Formats: sequence, C-alpha cells, structure tokens
Amino acid sequence: MSLLIKSGEIVTADSRYVADIFCEGETITRIDRSITPPPGCEVVDARGKFVFPGFIDPHVHIYLPFMGTFSKDTYVTGSQAALVGGTTTLIEMCCPARKDDALASFDLWMSQAVGKSACDFSFHMGVTKFDATTEAQLREIVRRGISSFKIFLAYKGAFGIDDTELYQTLKLAKELGVVVTAHCENETLVAERCKELLAAGKTDPAQHHESRPPAVEAEGVHHLMTFAELTGAATYIVHLSCKEALDQAIAARQRGVRVGIETLIQYLTLDKTYAEKPNFEGAKYVMSPPLRDARNQAVLWHGLRDGLINTVATDHAPFDFEKQKPMGRDDFTKIPNGIPSLEERVNLLYTHGVARGRIDLHTFVNVASTAVAKQFDLFPRKGAIQPGADADLVVFDPNYRGVISAKTQHMNVDYSAFEGWPLEGRASVVTVRGQVAARDGKFTGTLGRGQFLQRKPSHF
Ligand code: URP
Ligand code: ZN
Ligand code: ZN
Repeated sequence: MSLLIKSGEIVTADSRYVADIFCEGETITRIDRSITPPPGCEVVDARGKFVFPGFIDPHVHIYLPFMGTFSKDTYVTGSQAALVGGTTTLIEMCCPARKDDALASFDLWMSQAVGKSACDFSFHMGVTKFDATTEAQLREIVRRGISSFKIFLAYKGAFGIDDTELYQTLKLAKELGVVVTAHCENETLVAERCKELLAAGKTDPAQHHESRPPAVEAEGVHHLMTFAELTGAATYIVHLSCKEALDQAIAARQRGVRVGIETLIQYLTLDKTYAEKPNFEGAKYVMSPPLRDARNQAVLWHGLRDGLINTVATDHAPFDFEKQKPMGRDDFTKIPNGIPSLEERVNLLYTHGVARGRIDLHTFVNVASTAVAKQFDLFPRKGAIQPGADADLVVFDPNYRGVISAKTQHMNVDYSAFEGWPLEGRASVVTVRGQVAARDGKFTGTLGRGQFLQRKPSHF
C-alpha cells in the first residue's frame, strides 16, 4: 500500500519547500520535487496547501475519574475528534487515585485505549503516592515503554502528593531518565481560600479564579523548581497560564533547572471574563489553573514566539454542561474542572497564532508537534517529515473558512467553549502511519488501529 502527497508546501519546525511525499506502508520513504505514483497508489492533491507533520497533544484526559464523575470521551470518540482536528498522537495522563495500585491503573488506562483508539497514543504515568511498592511498579512501567511521570501539586486528598513523595519521585525520575510533568498550584492555599469564599457566600463559577489566583500557581511553580534544582530531575510544567508563573519558571531555567513549559490553547484564546458569564454559563469555562486576566495572553504568545514556552496542549477534560457541571451549581468547588478542546487546538492555534501574525509557521509546527516529540522521546519517529519517520501528515488548507459548533464536533460533550468562533484554516487531510484517517472534518480512519508508542527515557 502506498500514498503520495502531491505538490504541497511542506513546513516543518525549520524548513519550508514544495515537494511530493511518498509513503510506503506506514513510513515516509521519499521526498522529491516530482514523484510519479506507482500503480494502485493513493494520491492526495496538496497543491495550494501546507503539509505539516502530524500534531501531537501532550496533555489529554480521556479516561478521567475526577471530582465524583468521569470525563466524557472514550478512545472511540476522543481519537476521532483528535484526528479530525489534525492531532495524530495524543499523550494521556494515567491518573490513579491515591488508594489505587500504580501497575493495575496503568493496565486499566491501557485497556481503555488498545483496540479502540484510531490515533497513536502514550501515557504520562501519574504518581499519586510514593512508597516501596509504587516505586517498584514505576520501574516496571518505565520498562514497558513510559518515559514521563505526572504529579499534582494540587487536588488535596485526591491526586496530590506531599513534599516527601515529591522529592522521592523526582529522585527516581532522575535515576531513570524520566521527565516529570507537573500540575503546579499550592494546594493548601487553594483549600484555605475555597473555605473562606464559601463561608462568605461566594459560590458562583467566577469564584474559582479567586480561589486560585496567579500567586497560587506561581508558588506551585517555584516549589517544583526548588525540588527540581536539588534533585537535578528534568521537569515539565503543564498548563502554565500566567506571567507570574512563567517568571518563576524562567528564573529557575536561568539558574540551570531543567524545565519544559506547556501552555494551553484555552489560555491563549480565552480569559477569565468567560468564567464570569451569568446564569451558571461560566461553569463551561471552569478549569485549573483558571482562565486568567486577558493581559496574560500577550505574555503567553510572546513566550511561544521567543521560545520560552515550549509546547501548546489542550488538557482536554470534557464534562457536560447539562448534567455534570451543575454538580457545582451552588458550590463552585464542586464544578468538574475542564474545558474540552482536543478537536480544535490545531485550527485555533493556526487561526489565532499564524493567521494573526502572532507566531510564524515554524513556531506553530514546533510547539504543537516537533518540540512535543522531542520533549517526550518520540522524535524523529513523530514530529518530523523525513524518510524513516511515521507517515503522520496533515494537509492543511489555509483558505478554509468555517465556524466552530458543538453540533458538528466529534468530541463527546454537549457544548463547545468556542461556539460560533470563526476558523481561518483547518486540517483538511490527516494521515496516520500512511492511512488517510480524516478528510475535511470527517473521520475516515480505523478504530483500533492506533498504536501504543513505546518511549525510551532520555532525561538523565
Ligand atoms: O481543569 C483541569 N485542568 N482539569 C483536568 C485535570 C487537570 O488538572 O489537569
Ligand atoms: Zn492539571
Ligand atoms: Zn490535565
């Protein structure tokens, strides 16, 4: 089986040229000015379009038991949404509860994906407690192909770990060459502020921001950076939302701390006024860290442009507006946290980043694909257009004009945080390992064809 992507403008993190891409089986085998298709070869006409490496979302929740409920997508719905939106690989957070066994949880999360996912996938292994049994199991999980951990410095009593566990986790990660991804918020401050706000009768969704203002996130980042500095472990801050937190991370990086920084498409495009919408509609926009004051958006875009912020993810965590968000109608601390966006990340990043001149095409490819692949030990199998790489390609139409709507989305959730927003460009043909898996907003792939990507630690 062969596939030829003809006459597209290939754009990678560091190059741009017009050529044909020939794929045999699952792999790119040749790139040339003009390639004649052999008999039976499927040809995709990419004239007038960009061809990008498949995009990678490094922060996705599919199976997420959280705040007394479960996030809505499965790998059947989530992987279709990812592919339609140009994301060919996702990395999910495996999040056991504290009482759960790490290895059994890893097997459980894997069983949700294998045989169901249409896109390729891997996991960050959540470390939600640290003891001798967990340590042995984490070593085994790394042997099975996981090269990143996930920790929470938030969600007291649920996923959060204490400082002793944080120190031990980072020491183990350093030994194994694993990168530790971290949710950075000071959980004690969050818990105390929630109590005070509720006692004062402040219960609406807008209070979520007041319970975790920028200083709470900045303290979380500073805290992690101190532990990273003393252990020498490689770290990665997930969903960084504001200037105060960025300043802490950059200061640490300048003194030699190893830290990657991720922001989200939500923080780049939405601000805290959305969570202030009346009649509980603000609940659609409750996530942690919260949407920030709009002034932070320019800081984040500049951070991407200047290479300070490394990646753009979604933290996709879909909870229905009708049935799940109302768990917190009278108490904002009970609103399930999350804003779905797996399907829209790439198109929104292009529309609000490239089309508005905030970032160039190479930065776009880098932060949403190549830098992710490098950070998480997938490069050059993923994140690259070169012979030998997986034939994960996105033929992108910059002339497409359309509008986002929950009515047409593939994500299994009853609202879109971006309802009615215009798009200036979209992923038009998406391939996964040589198979066309999405075309013009429709899924055409094969459920269950997605592969678990084994990763080898490199962060020694
Ligand atoms: O609000 C969020 N971010 N929900 C998902 C869980 C997490 O913290 O990543
Ligand atoms: Zn988080
Ligand atoms: Zn998350």
